[in-house]
This record gives sequence, structure tokens and C-alpha cells, in this order.
Amino acid sequence: MALVCGLCAAFFALPASALTKAQKVQAGAVLFRSKGCDYCHGKTATGTAKGPSLTHLGWWRWRGSRLAQQIENGGRKMPAFGDSLSRDEVNELVIWMRSHPHPQAQAQSGQ
Ligand code: HEC
Repeated sequence: MALVCGLCAAFFALPASALTKAQKVQAGAVLFRSKGCDYCHGKTATGTAKGPSLTHLGWWRWRGSRLAQQIENGGRKMPAFGDSLSRDEVNELVIWMRSHPHPQAQAQSGQ
């Protein structure tokens, strides 16, 4: 029990720059909605007529660096997000996209 609570304390005491993997995944999920990725890729990233599904992106398909490039530079029909996202935010989106299944953004994000 003491160990569990110690971990909780460590978890909540972390500075913003040292997010845990779970926190990054959650931040990515929120960004995916707040930045409008869901407009083309769908709320659960399963794709729409405007953008492909992002549910099967693993290391075997796209290396993280290529995913980050797609987000920063855009593609043929996808706009570039390099100007509107920080490196950390791009990283969080990549981490979120590569986690299976994609966790949903939690309700408190104002959705
Ligand atoms: C205006 C529609 C649109 C928006 C907004 C959009 N995308 Fe895309 N995205 C696309 C399209 C279309 C493609 C297919 C390749 C291309 O044309 O660029 C794509 C491709 C991708 C790919 C590569 C998938 C693959 O398997 O080839 C990733 C990763 C991706 N988008 C992530 C994102 C993220 C993250 C955001 C938000 C920051 C976002 N997209 C916003 C339309 C969009």
C-alpha cells in the first residue's frame, strides 16, 4: 500500500516537461481533437472520406520520425501542422497514434 501511494505522489508531482507515457498518450488524444485532426481522420482515428484511418500505424509501418514529418510538413492533401504544434505536441500525437488501441480523450477537455 505504501508503495502504491508513493507512486501516486510521484505521478502527480512530475513537472509538465517530464510526463509519463500515459500522460503523453492522453495529451496526444486531446491534441488530436483540439487541433482538428479528427475532422479528417475521424474522432477515433478510423478515417473518413477526407483522411485515412490511423489505427494501424505501428513501428512496422511508419517510423516515429516519419509520422512526425507527416504531421509537421503535411502531405498531398493533409495540411502542415509544423507552425501550430510544438515538438512536444507532435511527439505526443505520435505516441498516441502508435498506442493500441488509441485511448480516447477524457471528457474534461471541454468536448
Ligand atoms: C484536411 C484533412 C486532414 C487533417 C486536418 C489532418 N489530416 Fe492527416 N492526412 C490527411 C490525408 C488526406 C492523408 C493521406 C496522405 C496525404 O494526402 O497527405 C493524411 C495522412 C496522415 C498520416 C499518414 C497516414 C498513412 O498511413 O499514410 C498521419 C500520421 C496523419 N495524417 C496524422 C494527422 C494528424 C496527427 C493530424 C492533426 C495534427 C492530421 N493528420 C490532420 C488529411 C488530414
